[in-house]
Amino acid sequence: MIPYILAAFLYMLVAVVMAFDASFASLGLLDWFNGMVWLRLHFITLGVLTELLFGLMPLLTARRYGLSRPETRWDIWATLNVGIALLIMGIPLTAHIPIIVGGTFIFVSTALLIGQLNNICPKNNDVPSYGRKFYIAGLAYFLLGIIVGTGLFTGWVDPLLITGNATEVHIHANNWGLLSLVFAGLLIDLYAVWAKRPLANPDSIKTIFWMMTVGAFGLIFGPWFIGGYPIVKWVLLVPGLVLHLAATIWLLINAIKPLRDSKDGASIGMQHLLGSYFWILAPILMAPFVVLGIGDLPNDVIEAMAPQALIYGWVFQFGAAIVPYFFQRYLFNDKKAELGGTKLSLILINAGGFFLWASIFIESARDILHGTAYLLWAIGMIPIAVDLWNKMKAGMAKMETAV
Ligand code: HEM
Repeated sequence: MIPYILAAFLYMLVAVVMAFDASFASLGLLDWFNGMVWLRLHFITLGVLTELLFGLMPLLTARRYGLSRPETRWDIWATLNVGIALLIMGIPLTAHIPIIVGGTFIFVSTALLIGQLNNICPKNNDVPSYGRKFYIAGLAYFLLGIIVGTGLFTGWVDPLLITGNATEVHIHANNWGLLSLVFAGLLIDLYAVWAKRPLANPDSIKTIFWMMTVGAFGLIFGPWFIGGYPIVKWVLLVPGLVLHLAATIWLLINAIKPLRDSKDGASIGMQHLLGSYFWILAPILMAPFVVLGIGDLPNDVIEAMAPQALIYGWVFQFGAAIVPYFFQRYLFNDKKAELGGTKLSLILINAGGFFLWASIFIESARDILHGTAYLLWAIGMIPIAVDLWNKMKAGMAKMETAV
């Protein structure tokens, strides 16, 4: 797990610098540069979260089944990290070779991880598969997200028969597919550890799994074929949206109900974890207005900018809670580790989301609101980065003295 923690730590530090840069560029204090759109999000999505989750999923699954701890698969770590490095080189340059080779390496890494998770089986089959099936389904959708993401700048959109907005297909595969399912799997595997009580209705997990998985299918292949076959809006996109939304809300009720019944309520970490879902629900609640063209909304601006609030408000905020937890859990073997986050990170990360959405609707002040959103996110990331820095420093010092 340590090589994944080291890489996630590096990308966390780069992500903080990148958020400040994105802010100063929008505020006109620094020049914009090629690749900014990709870099300001993918150090978080690929660099921090994907990195950590690739290390975690086999460990959590083996522990859930009472199996011995699997060794680090260096082939999976190496293909993931060589792939990310090549994308960081290729995307800003829109150079086809490093993008295609980088995307292919990450595809191979994901396929190897699916194979590893598939082979981690319970000693006897009547043990429920907990988060494992969510991880495998999420990674399967990631394979699609990687193919489309790799093809966006390299001319694969037509050969892939994508007739809708290809970036939207990519975003849906990686957010409604990969991260929604993997985050749900983590909640199922670790909620009892984080909240010190069980989920409200464990019997709902199987139905939530199928609703979220089938929902993601509709949300990915709806925009994929919508240009050629408008009917898919009604047979895939809208039903997918409803299924996925219902599954997400059901999962949240499962997690919030036990906290409401308790006197000490939710910790800051749990508020980060569950509060982050507001930012995946916001675009979903806006979607009917965009899809049905209700009201005089700036649909193109919403589609172009909403992903930023999704990644910082949901993905990064979920990470702000779990990344410090896993650093403490695995650098110190601390079974009493707590979720991360501070009052400051909670306030600033969510304030940033509101400023980003305000920049969508208030065109006259768009740049200053957009720049302020990134400034709030960048400052809100600092308490998390400092916490990780201290954990990394103390954890590594402990390991170095042990050898
Ligand atoms: C092999 C992995 C990946 C590749 C090759 C890739 C590639 C791309 C490319 C080329 C873009 C368009 C950027 C632009 O318009 O300038 C993009 C956008 C985006 N990607 Fe990825 N991506 C990958 C992984 C991910 C992951 C893991 C996530 C999230 C979970 C993600 C979420 C997004 C989002 C939200 C956007 C929209 C950015 C915006 O328009 O502001 N990507 N990606």
